[in-house]
Amino acid sequence: MSEVTFSYTDARVPAHIIPPLMRTLVPVAETLKKLPVGTYTVPESCLNLCLDTHMHAHIHALARVLKREKPALIIVIGIGGSSLGTMAIDQCVNGSAHDPALLYVDTVDTDNVYAARERMKQTLKEKRTVIVNIISKSGTTIETSANGEIFLNVLKNQDKRYAHHTIITTDKGTPLEKRAQDEGFHLLEIPRVVGGRYSVLSPVGLFPLALAGYDIDQLLAGARTMRARCLTRESPAGMSATLRSWHARHGKTIHDLFLFGNGLHALGAWYRQLFAESLGKGCDAEGKVCVGITPTFSMGTTDMHSIAQLYLGGPFDKYTTFVTVRKNRHDVKTPSSKNNESASYLQAKPLSHIMKALYEGVRYSFAHKKRPFSEIILPDKSEHIIGQLMQFQMMEVIYLGHLLHINPFDQPDIEDYKNEARRLLA
Ligand code: PA5
Repeated sequence: MSEVTFSYTDARVPAHIIPPLMRTLVPVAETLKKLPVGTYTVPESCLNLCLDTHMHAHIHALARVLKREKPALIIVIGIGGSSLGTMAIDQCVNGSAHDPALLYVDTVDTDNVYAARERMKQTLKEKRTVIVNIISKSGTTIETSANGEIFLNVLKNQDKRYAHHTIITTDKGTPLEKRAQDEGFHLLEIPRVVGGRYSVLSPVGLFPLALAGYDIDQLLAGARTMRARCLTRESPAGMSATLRSWHARHGKTIHDLFLFGNGLHALGAWYRQLFAESLGKGCDAEGKVCVGITPTFSMGTTDMHSIAQLYLGGPFDKYTTFVTVRKNRHDVKTPSSKNNESASYLQAKPLSHIMKALYEGVRYSFAHKKRPFSEIILPDKSEHIIGQLMQFQMMEVIYLGHLLHINPFDQPDIEDYKNEARRLLA
């Protein structure tokens, strides 16, 4: 089975710095290895989600039951950690077209919600099955609560078996859980200590993906492979965290994930949330205030025509991780044409070669301009590879938390705006 590759020849970190920093991660990895599987005791237990066969069997069983209903549309209602990971896998692995369609409703954008609701009504009118999966760890998120009511209302009005077609994914003891119990909806539990942004391999991501026909066993197998790799002394996630923590302490306080391929866009959004919520904090363990690295993401090659000038000429405050895909699902060749003299070097070339040449050009420029970077190479965009990548990124963030002395599991500063919004709405 092919593996995700991590390389860092242009990271520009002094060689003698790396071994002692890597050594500090050894006890962390040892502690992670000892966490019991299937019981969730500390936030780090999220790394064992890929090993929890009991949970996987439960998800498969429910997906099997609902697949018999032959759903035409699966509506995922959730925001942030409750949907970004699913979107990322959906987009990477399959692009946009699949059957049944997965439709995401996250924010309260009126036009988007209207369009999704119309599509749902139409599908139900055609006597085809719509499944609604409301996902909220807290069970109280404003956007998810509002959107959940809207879509449940449609389902109740147009589908006599609406309860069987509704799945609630939430923590034990939330108002949403009670609602599911009262109304007889299907219920999937998120382990309490697993944070939203680390929950993609829990029922949050696994259930809608399984129902939509993705091979979640391969996704989990990929995650397990990477988990094992990242718990060794040669941990690629540990290495990435080491390089980035050193740069962060030396003024590179922006990290850009530069993704080559449109199918990786949602992955960029998921990673930005994982990174920002985990590592942007009011203070670190040493009392240093307002810490963090600002995560950005860019899309190659489109953003090379937008932001590359800043990256190559602007301040030395950024570290970049490039992500490239060796083999996409399809390739397209340019035609040969005698009339097109100006672009003769492009004739009869697969676009994958052109993409590769453009990437090599950027890579060369970054190296030439002494802009530090590392590279992640994905052999393809299968479930197995994306599972590896996402597990790598979650472990990297946890290791970075240790190296920067930041708790990567809390988010104490985002309650204020929610409370104020609730006050205004009340
Ligand atoms: O990662 C997080 O904690 C957040 O992004 C949450 O996932 C997001 O706020 C949604 O919360 P909930 O799942 O409770 O609705």
